[in-house]
Order: sequence, then C-alpha cells, then structure tokens
Amino acid sequence: MRFDVVSIFPEYLAPLDLSLIGKARTEGLLELVVHDLRSYTADRHRTVDDTPYGGGAGMVMKPEPWAQALTDIAATSPAADGARPTLIVPAPAGEVFNQALAYELAQEKHLVFACGRYEGIDERVLEWAAEDYIVRPVSLGDYVLNGGEVAVLAMVEAIGRLIPGVVGNPESLIEESHSDGLLEYPVYTKPSSWRDREVPEVLLSGNHGKIAKFRREHQLRRTAERRPDLIDALDVSNFSKAERNV
Ligand code: ADE
Repeated sequence: MRFDVVSIFPEYLAPLDLSLIGKARTEGLLELVVHDLRSYTADRHRTVDDTPYGGGAGMVMKPEPWAQALTDIAATSPAADGARPTLIVPAPAGEVFNQALAYELAQEKHLVFACGRYEGIDERVLEWAAEDYIVRPVSLGDYVLNGGEVAVLAMVEAIGRLIPGVVGNPESLIEESHSDGLLEYPVYTKPSSWRDREVPEVLLSGNHGKIAKFRREHQLRRTAERRPDLIDALDVSNFSKAERNV
C-alpha cells in the first residue's frame, strides 16, 4: 500500500519514521512519501496562500501548487487499471474518521493526504481533483486543529496498523476498542495485588468462559457509561437477554 502526504510542513510527519509504522516502511509493507507543497510553486517567494474572496479572517491555500502536486502524484499512482487513488483532505468540515472508515481505507492501494493550513484549500481544487481521485474530506472530530498534519499522523497510524503484517499479533486487532462497536474491557498485569488493589478474581481463575463473560459485561457497562452514542448505534438483536440488561 502506498501513502503520499502533501504539506507545507513536511517535518511534521517525521514521527511516521518511528515505531510500528516506521518498521513497516523499512520492511516494505507500506510505502510513504512526504511532499513539500512549496516545491510545486513557481514564484520566487514560493507562495501557497492568498486572501479570501468575499473577505473574512485568515488566508486560503492557492489552487495551482495543489494542482501541480496532485497531478504529479496521480501520474505515478499504483492504483490498478485506471482505478482512482483516494484523496483524503483532513478538515473539520469532513465526514468523521472512525474505525470502520480506517478498515475501509486500509483496503485501498493508494491514499493521498492533502494537508490544508490557514482557512483551508480553494474549494475548486477538490472539485477538479475528482477527475483523478476519489475525494474525501475527513475530520478527526468536532474540534479545530491548526492544519491537517496531526490528523494525518492519526489516520496513517490507524489505517497502517490494519495492513496485514504491520501489527505482530493480529489477535490484538480483534479484541481492541471499536473492533466490534464497543469499548475495550479493562486490562491488568502483575502483580495481582498492588497498593491494596486486587485484580478481579475471575481473571486469575483460568475459567475461559467466565473470563469472556466478565470482559463482555465490562465492555457493555463501560460503553454505556462513556459512549452511550455507540450503544444506540448497535444492533442489540444479537445480544443475549442478560447482555441487554447490563
Ligand atoms: N484540520 C483542522 N481541524 C481538523 C480536524 N478536526 N480534523 C481533521 N483535519 C483538521
């Protein structure tokens, strides 16, 4: 799988050299190229922004450097047989990123991330790019960041770890938060007694049935307390009567 990231702050993406994603790059499980948007400008000042038509605070990213960058990147896309790569535009006005979208995007051959800064990218770029890309504005959540770079760090990590081979033990992808629409159960390690707090006894029992029941109950309780919106989105017809009452 290939990722391209376009930004005026390529150094912001340096953490993608580290940890599991860095290792996956070294091992060739994923290819990731960061491009400096300013290298696609044609003027002496390497200008990437200008004042907004209609007035208002802040600056808007000019269309031409984006067009140059996106044309170059599309020309070398590994997406097969005329299939368009996906262009993700991180923005608070996008669809919300979640685990389901991470799974969907992990199936793609080529993802391109366009990091906006200031008040965003001239809207015509997104319309124009739809000829060569599937364009998806995506938001990390209902808050405003200074630009798309931090959102890209989060999305590349969430998507990249779903690529087969990136996470050493694939079992850990099955039991984690959001994999089944619920939050993860609480976890404990040694010592079994720590500062007068005991690990729940059932976890020391070796009884796998009871342990699974304990974990499931805690998943449901925790999700109901912290994220009632996730419970509302679940299909409870698959739940046992006891589970529906947790
Ligand atoms: N850029 C600025 N705010 C953002 C957000 N909430 N999500 C994604 N990209 C952003």
